[in-house]
Amino acid sequence: MIELTVNGEARSVAAPARTHLADLLREHCGLTGTHLGCEQGVCGACTVMVNGVPTRSCLIYAHEAAGMEVTTIEGLDEDPVAEALRAAFSKHHALQCGYCTPGMMMTARDIVTRLGAVDEDRIRDELAGNLCRCTGYRGIVRAIAEVAATRPASAALPRREVPLTPPPAPARTASALSIAALPNQLKHRETLALPLDAAWAILSDPARIAACLPGMTLLRHEGEAVEGEMAVSLGPFAVKFAGLGTLTLDHAAHVGRLRGQGRDGANGAEGEVLWRLEPAGAGTTLVLDLAWRLTGPLAQFSRPALLRGMVAGMAGDFARNLERQARGEAVVAQAGLWAMLRAWLRGVLGR
Ligand code: FES
Ligand code: FES
Repeated sequence: MIELTVNGEARSVAAPARTHLADLLREHCGLTGTHLGCEQGVCGACTVMVNGVPTRSCLIYAHEAAGMEVTTIEGLDEDPVAEALRAAFSKHHALQCGYCTPGMMMTARDIVTRLGAVDEDRIRDELAGNLCRCTGYRGIVRAIAEVAATRPASAALPRREVPLTPPPAPARTASALSIAALPNQLKHRETLALPLDAAWAILSDPARIAACLPGMTLLRHEGEAVEGEMAVSLGPFAVKFAGLGTLTLDHAAHVGRLRGQGRDGANGAEGEVLWRLEPAGAGTTLVLDLAWRLTGPLAQFSRPALLRGMVAGMAGDFARNLERQARGEAVVAQAGLWAMLRAWLRGVLGR
């Protein structure tokens, strides 16, 4: 049974474990104003507010919204900002078939209430995660700008960030844990030209792990708690996630597990990586299980082939850095353009 608040009303809903929030809203609550387009985080049609933050309801499981406040398009019937946006959308011909409109409205209301008077360039940036296949964006942007202009920027409401707290420490050993039920998952193997003990000496030391991962900066490490920053760039997106994580190591089994979450403005990331070392002749096999979820504009890149190629490329860079570090050589601090391109091509060609 999932207990949550939908449009101000407490709900208790029985739904299968893998039901995503959009299906729960549409099929169990009868709120069909939330539309489903791609169901992979690309189009933004399913955007609802979860605890005041625009969220793609096709990307989170319903049980993850337990205890939270969810607002759908139906919940904005009496909302004065939404009323002004509806009038402006009509005036500026900002919809045609209307399929994208509920998600557009949720994002538009967030832009207006959070940023107040704001220029059209910023509106286009903020709308990057909502796709419209028929109207074009000119009318939508004008409608939002018109309503935003009635609210001085100084009156903008602050964004209610999802609180950033370290995930709970696992109760069992790292080797006994299975990868989390996150929507994107990838298994990857790398052969290391290193004996197992030399590889584990690095893969059991948070500072040395961070040094091998291009874009990663370790800020703090106390017991199982780690804090760091991860810079990622892909196409027009360059983000630096600041976040917290929990690291668990099983030295006997040569297994490590890191689960963490981070934010950069409107972009959020949650992920888990499980690594295991196996002897392979004179070398070692590094087995990686990765799982992640992105939210916000960066989630547009949740196209599986693209992301899988990028993540596999990063895993390869990490493995080569690990070997360099074991040899006492300098690691490569940033993934180069060619490495990114290679990773992207691998993803596309591997579809
Ligand atoms: S249906 Fe959720 S982002 Fe497209
Ligand atoms: S109005 Fe048709 S998809 Fe946007």
